Amino acid sequence: MKIIVANWKMNGGVDLADEFIEEINTITSPNTIVVCPPAVLISRFGNFSHRVGAQNCFCEENGAFTGENSPKLLKEAGCKYVILGHSERRSIFCEDDELIFKKWKAAVAQDLIPIVCIGEKIEDRDNWKETISRQLDFFLDDCPLGDTIFAYEPVWSIGTGLIPTEEKIETIFAFIKELLGDEAPLLYGGSVTSENAQRILACQNVDGFLVGGASLKIDEFKKIVAFGAVFNH
Ligand code: PGA
Repeated sequence: MKIIVANWKMNGGVDLADEFIEEINTITSPNTIVVCPPAVLISRFGNFSHRVGAQNCFCEENGAFTGENSPKLLKEAGCKYVILGHSERRSIFCEDDELIFKKWKAAVAQDLIPIVCIGEKIEDRDNWKETISRQLDFFLDDCPLGDTIFAYEPVWSIGTGLIPTEEKIETIFAFIKELLGDEAPLLYGGSVTSENAQRILACQNVDGFLVGGASLKIDEFKKIVAFGAVFNH
């Protein structure tokens, strides 16, 4: 079974949501399909026949945190998953590894399935091992990972059309699996399209995708999901 996650970021709207629901509801797939729309659209997905996730959450249950959403609120709105530590959260909103780990704890406490993003910036391309080890450090500290999903997204690949070679993906995924163990699913993210999905999914240890831009084009997303079914072995 593969896991295909659509990360809409701050895109889409009511019309896209309705069309996406109608189209993707027609798919019966052995794979897990998750859509993560902007938070205000989550409740629109009440009749979605696949899964819904959020793109972020805060680490407290309630309180004076203007603009934030708690895992509890997200769960009540219909989420089952939550993306944490996306590189845009890390760079634009200054989230560090400790805060991301606190959010992870809060999400797990509400039985949300966290999708934790890791990956090196362009300037760390040669030092990816150090970056990834640091980003995973809190999670390796005797911490039962439960249902946690991880997503390796090289920052230089997000939205750029650049992707690592298959050989590089296999090397990096083997390294991460070695750290995390075999249980935690590991997704690839960064410029996934219907053109490259098939060969990335064929790489060893790739358990699915976190798809940004291509998830806003419904036909394109459907093709990516279909590749997931082909590689369901
Ligand atoms: P992209 O984004 O597919 O548009 O590169 C992926 C992501 O940021 O999760």
